[in-house]
Amino acid sequence: MQKPTQKAPESNRLMRATAQAPANIALIKFWGKRNETLRLPMNDSISLNLSSASTVTTVEFINNLREDKLILDGLSVTGEEKSRVTKHLNVIREMAKISTKAIVTTNNNFPRGAGMASSASGFAALSKAASVAAGLKLDERQLSILARLGSGSACRSVPDGWVEWKEGKDSNSSYAHSIHNFDYWDICDVIAIVEKEKKKVTSTEGHAIAESSPFYKTRIKDMGGKIKKIKKYIKTKNFTKMGEIVESEALNMHAVMITSKPALIYWNGITLKLMVCVREWREEGLETYFTIDAGPNVHIICRQKDAQTLVKKLKDVEGVVDVVTNEVSRGVHLL
Ligand code: PMV
Repeated sequence: MQKPTQKAPESNRLMRATAQAPANIALIKFWGKRNETLRLPMNDSISLNLSSASTVTTVEFINNLREDKLILDGLSVTGEEKSRVTKHLNVIREMAKISTKAIVTTNNNFPRGAGMASSASGFAALSKAASVAAGLKLDERQLSILARLGSGSACRSVPDGWVEWKEGKDSNSSYAHSIHNFDYWDICDVIAIVEKEKKKVTSTEGHAIAESSPFYKTRIKDMGGKIKKIKKYIKTKNFTKMGEIVESEALNMHAVMITSKPALIYWNGITLKLMVCVREWREEGLETYFTIDAGPNVHIICRQKDAQTLVKKLKDVEGVVDVVTNEVSRGVHLL
């Protein structure tokens, strides 16, 4: 991690800050890491920040507190989730040269751990709130790098709008930047929630076995060309061509997951049914494309003019428990 540009003097440190960060949906996915500890990805990825799925986190460093406290969606949390937060706070404390413990209060407006990238919005919000509360003045790049250390895809929730995460050569060159602002194109991501339970195999565990798939090498080899193409179609606002890549990219990543050892099957029956529906609706003239992360929920990319029709259709599919419509949003910011 590069040194922050400026450090506030001890006396005027804020010690408390609140930040909001969006979840993001990857159009080109991050699956598999080059370096586990630094969370360096095997490939570049591209994503959209989501307007209706976000995390709000307040971090307060309090003198004489014996240990960090984590309050997640109203409940005091210990165990694995808390140690991950403490580990991240330790990185920030080291940068700010403080040892004060903190109370972290964090709320998601969507179900955690169900393939909706709660770790992305969570670690982006935590990085921003904690670094500001600790008196650090990080620029967007430094903040993106810091968020990446907490959860890879969190680095993409830092910049605004349409985002690219360059894999980079090392920690200082692996960060996300905005390729287009949030108001660039009238695209929506409608999420069909089919399960609100936490997923059984985390993405961290999944990344670790990606290479065991016989298809992984081919996936990585083709990535450069795929990224180049999708960036061109986004630039020329060619929705059809972009959508075709989005859908086949999601299937490509899931082909790797399904053929990993042990096999990772994140879909359930409704996921599959929705994939078929989207393809049928498209043939009937409703142009939408699906993508799916490490969970059963289905993200459907459409144009704003079609969002309402799509939502209606999704609500009629048995097994869909909720539908969340997102526009493309700005990245992390202080509240
Ligand atoms: O950042 P992680 O470790 O939660 O991994 C994200 C993995 C996917 O959501 C499946 C793909 C992506 O690029 O967001």
